[in-house]
Amino acid sequence: MNNFDNIIINEEQIKNRVKELAKQISSDYKDTQPVIICMLKGAVYFFADITQNLDLSFTIDFARLSSYKSGTVGGEIETVCKITTDIKDKHVLIVEDIIDSGKTLNYFMNELKEFGPASIKLCALLNKPSRRTVPVNIDYLGFEIEDKFIVGYGLDFDEKYRELPFIAELKQ
Ligand code: IMP
Ligand code: MG
Repeated sequence: MNNFDNIIINEEQIKNRVKELAKQISSDYKDTQPVIICMLKGAVYFFADITQNLDLSFTIDFARLSSYKSGTVGGEIETVCKITTDIKDKHVLIVEDIIDSGKTLNYFMNELKEFGPASIKLCALLNKPSRRTVPVNIDYLGFEIEDKFIVGYGLDFDEKYRELPFIAELKQ
């Protein structure tokens, strides 16, 4: 673990926060049967942990938009994988790893609105508010972080380090 001695959020902190968020979501969505969407690939571990902690009846689906082709530089947004659930009149909760510029989620939420859902809310593990260029409202937030490039718990650098159970700053 030599490359990752700068752990920003450890396993225990993640577990505790996930439980708190799941409790809040369970109470807010009581009796509504929401569709919970996992934003691949980054949200995969967060989504798995959140959904397993919900005391709620719901269905799941997956979407993948890519903007970071590789490395840390942002590019154009592209929908690589679309949801297949009919979300008309359904309550939709999107689960995402990190909101950075906000472009990905802003784009995706506008796309989903076209299908006429009853509501769309966002649950994000991390927020980098200092980097925002497009407004995005985060309804359930794990942690706010500084403008540092981080990896682990789903987040990658060049498709690597997603499997780390903690969130760490990548040493340059
Ligand atoms: P946005 O469209 O700029 O908000 O970008 C969001 C996406 O960029 C996230 O879903 C991540 O895949 C990626 N991203 C942003 N910041 C980081 C980071 O610090 N580490 C790893 N991926 C990041
Ligand atoms: Mg992502």
